[in-house]
Amino acid sequence: MLKQYKEAIEKSNIVSKTDTSGIITFVNDEFCKISGYSKEELLGQNHNIVRHPDVPVSTFGLLWKTIRAKQIYKTTAKNRAKDGSTFYVNTTITPILDEDGNIVEFIAIRYDVTNEVLYKHQLQKKEKELEELNVSLEKRVQEKTTELKVLNKTLEKRVKKEIAKNEQKQKIMFWQSRLASLGEMLANIAHQWRQPLTELSLTLFTLKKAALGGNENEVKKLYNESKNIIKNMSNTIEDFTNFFKLGKEKQHFKVAQSVEEAINVLEKLITTEMISIKTEYEDLEVLGITNELSQVIVNLIKNSRDAFVYNSILMREINISVKKEKSNGEFAVIEIEDNAGGIKDKDIYKIFEPYFTTKHTSQGTGLGLFMSKMICENGLNGTIDVKTKKGTTTFIIKIPLEESHAQ
Ligand SMILES: Nc1ncnc2c1ncn2[C@@H]1O[C@H](COP(=O)(O)OP(=O)(O)O)[C@@H](O)[C@H]1O
Ligand SMILES: [Mg+2]
Repeated sequence: MLKQYKEAIEKSNIVSKTDTSGIITFVNDEFCKISGYSKEELLGQNHNIVRHPDVPVSTFGLLWKTIRAKQIYKTTAKNRAKDGSTFYVNTTITPILDEDGNIVEFIAIRYDVTNEVLYKHQLQKKEKELEELNVSLEKRVQEKTTELKVLNKTLEKRVKKEIAKNEQKQKIMFWQSRLASLGEMLANIAHQWRQPLTELSLTLFTLKKAALGGNENEVKKLYNESKNIIKNMSNTIEDFTNFFKLGKEKQHFKVAQSVEEAINVLEKLITTEMISIKTEYEDLEVLGITNELSQVIVNLIKNSRDAFVYNSILMREINISVKKEKSNGEFAVIEIEDNAGGIKDKDIYKIFEPYFTTKHTSQGTGLGLFMSKMICENGLNGTIDVKTKKGTTTFIIKIPLEESHAQ
């Protein structure tokens, strides 16, 4: 039975025996297989023939100390085979004692754990790599964060600077357009005055004649006529300056009235250019500056006039409607439609840009629609849009109604 036990152990394990000084006295086939040495090469050799040079000498000190003290020594040993390759074995060394308790020999029973150890090493290596990667990643994230923070700061500064620049630019354009309006106002007054001035000089001439002739009644009549003409001229100035006055407070005003005012200001132009204007109003009030909306309408009508002339349109029609619209809230919608030839596709996306004009430099500033958009968006909290098809152009102004009632 003992022999059977011995065989069972030898078949399944790597077994060797040494004498008390470490000289090999027995090896089984498994030992030969794993070490690569033959039995002949091993027997009579010191057991350190399979020692791996990596293993520190101190390890063997402890080994010998343990087994010489008749204790069992257990370890996972790193060994070197004949061909120089490394193998790992889980080792148990047991001292064998005689009847008197003296050590006769040592028996070492091992099993191969090379794969497990290698896996473990690989795992440890990967773990370490991961840890390092983690650290370097963290560092990189930190670096990038600081970089981004710095970038953010400079960006903020740049945006602020650009905004300031833009505001400045808008102010300049605003004044340019005011100046243009002022020029238009003077031209309008001059136009309006031409006739009464001639009338006045004629009346004064007749008055002088009547005075010299001593015709008191005639003098009185002519004097009153002159006074009326002058009053009329003064009214013209009043009308226009009111219209172009700056810095007014926002108020509720009737949209239709504002449109009518624009048409009145342009009355002369509309009749001499033979433009027919049809209007259709719903009674709506919005919040803003009535003169500013009138200016927008004036800009639009003048653009239509320019297009009528440029395209030699004979039947000149402008339709203006003011209606209430309900979609995502209530709006006053003003539509101004003309049949002046339409706007080319390549231009339509640019017409609201400042300084964009298709007119001769003496006629167009390219500021009319830009200013109109500014007024609609900033002054009236609304929008302005354009549609064009088959020779007609429609501008659509949308102003929210709630705003007007909210205040
Ligand atoms: N009703 C219209 N019909 C045709 N073209 C138009 C009309 N309104 C505007 N435009 C085009 O939009 C351009 C820009 O208009 P605007 O900003 O008022 O500047 P300007 O009148 O000084 O050219 C015009 O030059 C013209 O080409
Ligand atoms: Mg214009």
